[in-house]
Amino acid sequence: MVKEAIAQKKIQPGGTFVEASSGNTGIGIARLAGELGYKAKVFVSKNCSREKLDMLKRYGACIEICENSHGMLDPQSTQYRAQEYAQKHTNAYYTNQYCNQANLQAHFETTGPEIWQQTAGKITHFFAGIGTGGTISGTGKFLKQQTPKIKICGIEPKGSVLSHYFKYGCLPVDDIPMERIEGIGRTFVPEVFDAAHVDMIYQVDLEESKHNALSYYKQQRELIGFSSAAVLAGLETHIQQHTFGKDAIVVLLFADHGERYKQVLYPDLPHTESSYGIV
Ligand SMILES: Cc1ncc(COP(=O)(O)O)c(C=O)c1O
Repeated sequence: MVKEAIAQKKIQPGGTFVEASSGNTGIGIARLAGELGYKAKVFVSKNCSREKLDMLKRYGACIEICENSHGMLDPQSTQYRAQEYAQKHTNAYYTNQYCNQANLQAHFETTGPEIWQQTAGKITHFFAGIGTGGTISGTGKFLKQQTPKIKICGIEPKGSVLSHYFKYGCLPVDDIPMERIEGIGRTFVPEVFDAAHVDMIYQVDLEESKHNALSYYKQQRELIGFSSAAVLAGLETHIQQHTFGKDAIVVLLFADHGERYKQVLYPDLPHTESSYGIV
């Protein structure tokens, strides 16, 4: 999104990239913007983990904490405030990951081919959390072009609207509060989400996801991110409903590392202020 904006001259040298982010896209934008001589202003919801806020600061982002991320119609949302900021300031560009086709395209050009090469074209199932939908739509589009029978499985928290939209083509009537799993789940359908490249979406439980993070740590000695733990919960739901053939090659996309959620996911592990470095 950053490179596309610069190439298309949507922003001039030294300008400010503006984004509404649960943290990670903001971290990526702040880092790249800084390297290329631009500034970054990131609007995050108040649920963003302290570790991610620390990283944003380290990459020089200017941070605004917002009440929620409920979409453009809510003036208190990250998206509304980011768009408003970009409109009111000169040489500020709102990357808008929810509507920006460069988001999907990046996964089509990088994540998809990388997975295809690393599995030597043998992948049969792909599981990823859905936030903007860029990862699953772009990666799914690429993988389905290689092998249409591949199964593309999305994961979202309970109360998110995408699985209902996926099944029925409309938003749910019941207003069930969405469980907070950083990076995934939406109360609106992002333009970037393209259901044509997805086969199923599983809703997962917050507590089950937290439990999975801890069990994974005990078994593998690896700290996984919140949405990664949710992907594991989605895999378990899938296994309850389907069997994998003996040739199944299943790829789970873990979007980030557990170092960014130490306080919320691993409160009993010792904390080290200097260990947030994995990007
Ligand atoms: C931790 C985490 N998981 C999952 C996602 C969802 O990815 P996408 O927005 O491509 O659907 C994000 C998005 O930034 C994320 O930060």
